[in-house]
Amino acid sequence: MKQIIFLIFTIFLSACKNKRPENQELMSDRIDTHSFSKPNIAKTTHLDLKLNVDFDAKTLKGSAGYEIEHNNASEIILDLRNLKIDRIIDQTGEILEFKIGENHENLGSSLAISLNNSTRYINIYYETQPDAAALQWLEPNQTTDKRLPFLFTQGQAILTRTWIPCQDSPGVRITYNAELKVPDNMMAVMSANNPTEKNKSGIYNFSMKQPIPSYLIAMAVGDLVFGKIGARTGVYSEPSMLEKSLYEFEDMEKMLVSAEALYGPYLWEKYDVIVLPSSFPFGGMENPRLTFATPTIIAGDKSLTSLIAHELAHSWSGNLVTNATWNDFWLNEGFTVYFERRIMEAIYGKEYANMLAVLGYQDLENTVDHIGHTHSDTHLKLDLKGRDPDDGMTDIAYEKGAYFLMMLESKFGREVFDKFVKDYFEKHKFQTITTDEFIRYLNTTLLKDDKHEIDINAWIFEPGIPSNVTIPHSDKFQKVDQSVKDLLDNEPISEHNWSTHEWLHFIRKIPENTNLEILKKADQKFNFSNSKNAEIAAAWFELSIQSGYNKNNIEQIETFLISIGRRKFLTPLYTALKDKGELDTATNIYKKARKNYHAVSTQTIDKLLEYQVQ
Ligand code: BES
Ligand code: ZN
Repeated sequence: MKQIIFLIFTIFLSACKNKRPENQELMSDRIDTHSFSKPNIAKTTHLDLKLNVDFDAKTLKGSAGYEIEHNNASEIILDLRNLKIDRIIDQTGEILEFKIGENHENLGSSLAISLNNSTRYINIYYETQPDAAALQWLEPNQTTDKRLPFLFTQGQAILTRTWIPCQDSPGVRITYNAELKVPDNMMAVMSANNPTEKNKSGIYNFSMKQPIPSYLIAMAVGDLVFGKIGARTGVYSEPSMLEKSLYEFEDMEKMLVSAEALYGPYLWEKYDVIVLPSSFPFGGMENPRLTFATPTIIAGDKSLTSLIAHELAHSWSGNLVTNATWNDFWLNEGFTVYFERRIMEAIYGKEYANMLAVLGYQDLENTVDHIGHTHSDTHLKLDLKGRDPDDGMTDIAYEKGAYFLMMLESKFGREVFDKFVKDYFEKHKFQTITTDEFIRYLNTTLLKDDKHEIDINAWIFEPGIPSNVTIPHSDKFQKVDQSVKDLLDNEPISEHNWSTHEWLHFIRKIPENTNLEILKKADQKFNFSNSKNAEIAAAWFELSIQSGYNKNNIEQIETFLISIGRRKFLTPLYTALKDKGELDTATNIYKKARKNYHAVSTQTIDKLLEYQVQ
């Protein structure tokens, strides 16, 4: 009997669910399972951050004060992970009770602060721990110039809570002011208005007037200098990198102007890039007004600057119009990859953008092969509940997302599609958006009266690469294919005056089971193992390990892995070593390299190599 009642109840419940009114569906889709905060009940709107940066103790200590909005709520919930909270007061200095919830591995804990009707401001006095996951504290010898220590943060996806107690959800936007106290020979910069010179006091003040999600709050402190590129653009770096960086990023102002011509005004006033020490775990991070970048894109020939176009494009897709939850990550990255290639096309021409598109398509095919053609992680809309959002940050969001937009462009033509994208940014600026909301917008704009009967569900809710994908083509790569054939046929190979992208295509097209003598011949001729271009070196090292050629260049591979912390390079190389049964080699290198990596990278590689921290 009990079972029957239960069954009837379950049927009743599911019937209710199916009849859920549309707006309720809309709300549930907005729930961010990676944050404890409940912004619908009480939300933060502005942050006043005051921190002392202590390089000896490796801690940040100070306070995070928030203006808050609520309607008679009894508490406000923030996220934190690994923070020491000292006390919390309201606008009158009155102590507020708080409770820290149970600790979850990646999510950290909830911080519930009691409110009363009149609480409008909360000030949290706290301190970070030396192993805060967002922060990397570098010794002088781990920096480029080796003179002073260095600190930088990485917030995306859910690491800001390890250095600031906050509502750490992309669905909550705040403005911020900050005051940082740093050693007096150092400069501090943030994702805000920035100094261009060091000051004697070591006190720096910042303000970010546009509302941003917490994952975009960022800070770097070190031996920094600034150089101007254009009216609104410039570069920060350690002194020895400034000239090289200014040359490499010479076209940045042009990129900004091209981006605006495509999709509307740049709303963040300044656009600068900071070139970080080589341990930075990403290629780039789109912190507003100040992109954080790896030094591995300074190739000496401007050949890797599509990364800057990418981070700049995020000033629209991501920073202006933000994914509401990490399940909607493709809305950030897919739009950005599409936009990045449009900027590159505008400046360097169609053939250049075609090469980027072909390399991206290769990445997409490899990723789908790797994850599995029928796996739900190859949907654009993800379900990351109960998992680390990092698990969803694959080339599916980037490349399947971009190829979805390229398909739409090909159906409707550039003019119509560009207007759609421009309006999309304008209508949703400084807001967050879910995939469902995006689909509704698409259906009432571009797809209204659609004669093409486009199946968008196949792209968004189904696995693999849909059949109406626009397969890219590059004439230049076709010529490269011929050279690969010559190499494999043991024909004489000639000197080439190729671009980085042609070299990358060349290396990618050499099969893993190629005869080692042939690989040696290519290496002797083109000197790949000693390439100063990190992308070319990484591609060659991966092939070297997969083919067994690595006995010839293991020293170079080791040096590379010890000196560079960019996860995109580390993961394939350690994976290849592991897959080839060379786990011992991998572990021995990792033992030496690990101290140079940011927590983002060690988290991935620890798991990959099943490494036990001593
Ligand atoms: N926002 C990402 C970096 C990111 C993604 C950080 C997910 C944390 C979680 C950034 O815009 C990015 O995509 N960087 C790429 C470079 C780009 C050219 C594809 C990278 O770091 O390789
Ligand atoms: Zn990106």
